[in-house]
Amino acid sequence: MEIKVIAGDITKVKADAIIVNFFTGRRKLDGDIAALDKALDGAISQLVRQGEIKGKLNEVTVVHSLGKLPADRVVVAGLGKKAELSPNKVRGAVAETCRALRPKGVTSVATIAQGAGINGLSPEAAAQAVAEGVLLGLYSFRKHITSQKEKPGEIKQLTIVGSDRVKPRLEKGARKGEILAEAANLARDMVNEPANYMTPTRLAETATKLARNHGLEISVLEREQMAELGMGAMLGVAQGSRQPPKFIVLHYKGSRTKEPGVALIGKGITFDSGGISIKPAEKMEDMKGDMAGGAAVMAAITAIARLKPKINVVAIIPATENLPDGNALKPGDILTAMGGKTIEIISTDAEGRLVLADALDYAKKLGVKYIVDAATLTGACIIALGKVCTGAFTNRQALVDKVIAAGNEAGELIWQMPMYDEYKEQNKSDVADIKNVGGRGAGAITAAQFLAEFAGDTPWVHLDIAGTSLSDKEKAHLVKGATGVPARTLVNLVLALAKR
Ligand code: BES
Ligand code: MN
Ligand code: ZN
Repeated sequence: MEIKVIAGDITKVKADAIIVNFFTGRRKLDGDIAALDKALDGAISQLVRQGEIKGKLNEVTVVHSLGKLPADRVVVAGLGKKAELSPNKVRGAVAETCRALRPKGVTSVATIAQGAGINGLSPEAAAQAVAEGVLLGLYSFRKHITSQKEKPGEIKQLTIVGSDRVKPRLEKGARKGEILAEAANLARDMVNEPANYMTPTRLAETATKLARNHGLEISVLEREQMAELGMGAMLGVAQGSRQPPKFIVLHYKGSRTKEPGVALIGKGITFDSGGISIKPAEKMEDMKGDMAGGAAVMAAITAIARLKPKINVVAIIPATENLPDGNALKPGDILTAMGGKTIEIISTDAEGRLVLADALDYAKKLGVKYIVDAATLTGACIIALGKVCTGAFTNRQALVDKVIAAGNEAGELIWQMPMYDEYKEQNKSDVADIKNVGGRGAGAITAAQFLAEFAGDTPWVHLDIAGTSLSDKEKAHLVKGATGVPARTLVNLVLALAKR
């Protein structure tokens, strides 16, 4: 997909479709839509009068121009109430509109930066939302489908039209939107890939390629090196699989100082069968996506490398399968994590917190200032919050406030969960320092409290993305399958941290 920004008059633009926006409750057309309406001999204003165009959010009306304009169609996209306009609404409406146009054979679209100037929406933010909407909304994963039939059409070109004056700002926003959406789509590709393709080795190879292309430093620790570092928790999970585990570390150096900066840790379980505490068969295929946190941090650091903020970032992805081999970890076993803490295994299906324990110890040893981890950690988080928002857990309110703000900016919703000390009791073990399951109540919180023991005093936020990493429907900028959450949030966060 090519995204370009031009200065000019929308009524002169040649494209298969021109997209314009319309708000609810508006009767009179003004500006660009009025100019288009005039060229179309009042077709748009007639549809408004007749009530076909209401401006409801995500409403799409196609008007054919029948040679009256250089463009073949004018598409009126509803944006809802003007007073409630946000980048997220623009992102979603553009996505829905482009998806509606795709099967009609439309290959090129043009639009004015929708909503710029309204509700304080800057031209940058508007162009960014348009670029993200197109790229995220049109994403598909067809790599393993050999039939060409039923292939949806393809929109190959998007032109954003503005005035000479705002063109540089539109360009800046469009480029940022492109980088963010490409990061999310990269994460989606990794998550959608089945586990027989996306093994820990393949995940490490992907990281190596990305590092080469974006000038990142990389080290991939093998089993022997993990053993030398004492990563008993990670290796405990890995011992049930034939696939060699990989501990992937990517460094972005944006600051001239030596300080290690921010660690982004992502759970990298390339398939979670539950291990000996095996999962029920229903929906187990979704567990190919148990590396969504790892994919998101990997994608985020490549976007960061493209945007070049002045801050150092390290992405850490402990990658392994969780399978029930003859050598597998067993309930009752006791493991020793890198920092020396002992862990009693109650369920081998609570493997995420085990690999994250060693990753947190590793990040602390690097001396990072902040840690944010993303993990498809608990089914309990889906019970608590559904698929609407990610759960956030922290030992530092000021940091989680920034993470939530970064999520709002991305349209990736986040809700903070309580971390009262009282919950810690549930993780107490009779035979080790801690146990890996804290009983039935508050499962997402006790999992986070387990991680908190390993985060120690380092300001840390844990994002439980079990509910938000996969979508079961096409909606706004989301399509069925992987969402790429929270890649864009993490990029926004790092940009915000670099600004201070
Ligand atoms: N990967 C799962 C969590 C999960 C479940 C993610 C459903 C997405 C959809 C995690 O490793 C897990 O199995 N957690 C257990 C923990 C339990 C044994 C304490 C769970 O949530 O059931
Ligand atoms: Mn599990
Ligand atoms: Zn898991």
